[in-house]
Amino acid sequence: MDKKTEIIKINPQAIDADTIARAGVILKKGGLVAFPTETVYGLGGDATNPEASHKIYAAKGRPSDNPLIVHISNAKALEKIVTETPQAAYTLMKRFWPGPLTMIFRKNERIPYETTGGMETVAVRMPSDPIARALIDASTGYIAAPSANISGRPSPTQAEHVAQDLGGKIDMILDGGAVHIGLESTIIDLTEDVPIILRPGYITLEMLREVLGEVRVDPALIAADSDQKPKAPGMKYRHYAPKANLKVVEGETDAVVQAINRMCKELTVQKKKVGILATEETKERYSQGIVISMGARDDEEAIARHLYGSLRQFDEWGVDEILSESFTTAGIGQAIMNRLLKAAGHQVWEV
Ligand code: TXA
Ligand code: MG
Repeated sequence: MDKKTEIIKINPQAIDADTIARAGVILKKGGLVAFPTETVYGLGGDATNPEASHKIYAAKGRPSDNPLIVHISNAKALEKIVTETPQAAYTLMKRFWPGPLTMIFRKNERIPYETTGGMETVAVRMPSDPIARALIDASTGYIAAPSANISGRPSPTQAEHVAQDLGGKIDMILDGGAVHIGLESTIIDLTEDVPIILRPGYITLEMLREVLGEVRVDPALIAADSDQKPKAPGMKYRHYAPKANLKVVEGETDAVVQAINRMCKELTVQKKKVGILATEETKERYSQGIVISMGARDDEEAIARHLYGSLRQFDEWGVDEILSESFTTAGIGQAIMNRLLKAAGHQVWEV
């Protein structure tokens, strides 16, 4: 802990202008401010300042080849940092911005290589969260912001998670309460002939195909255990992971519950502390272990919102092993399973 991190509560419905102005000055001077977005909390620094990007990597302990997303608050800002804006971008902007969609473009010299991990392309997102938007307006207009967690840990969905990971390492945390979505933005690369999804999120493949027509999915995402190198450098790391060992049990619900009960019993005999990631329908059916219900099975938005917080909660309780039910891959379910399987290092039990 080498610096004092100021944590300031801020009401998204009545944003305090002085607080935002102060946070904006910190960013303009090259400092770091964590802030809420609709997806997860971000660790913000001035995207046009190489020093600020260095500080972001250092605070997170993030490999420097893993590029940052640049956050903007208006469409004009985009044209100033990219070499060209393909037609597809205008279509997507109109439909999904502001919101949980990140697009990848060829960058110009205004965005330094320090921000893009040495890449010629830049990822850009216009968040919808009012605090994030006010902060961008109070900054240079370009905030580089990865998720505000220590690299490899679950992304933060509330300010307390940011404080746990980055307290003492950054200048300020804006506490705007719990986020709405809980999983990181969908990433789509527009630099190829056919747009390609590099990370699934709230904006689904179906939604993107509906407006764009042909859209591909990075093959590394489909066969995540293959040796295919993902196009988004960050997707190659064992990510989103709790300290405990996590296994996902896949199959028909009754069989999954039975298998988890059996596995939990064995682990308990071995004196392991076991956490179970369950749902409203199943939570009463586990006889041992610490059970967290993330929501009703058909309420995928609730499950998305509670996933990372639940993984962190198990860590706090000192759980050794986490056993998780699996979920359908419809809609945002695809993003849920992508993150869950990554957190599990692809340890899946089929029953
Ligand atoms: O929802 C979000 O996107 C959150 C909030 C804070 O906006 N941000 C976020 O950032 O998730 P981060 O840094 O945790 O994840 C960014 C991902 C990484 O997997 C990175 O490799 C990829 O985006 N990425 C960034 N720039 C890229 C580029 N030019 N080409 C390919 N992938 C890129
Ligand atoms: Mg991240």
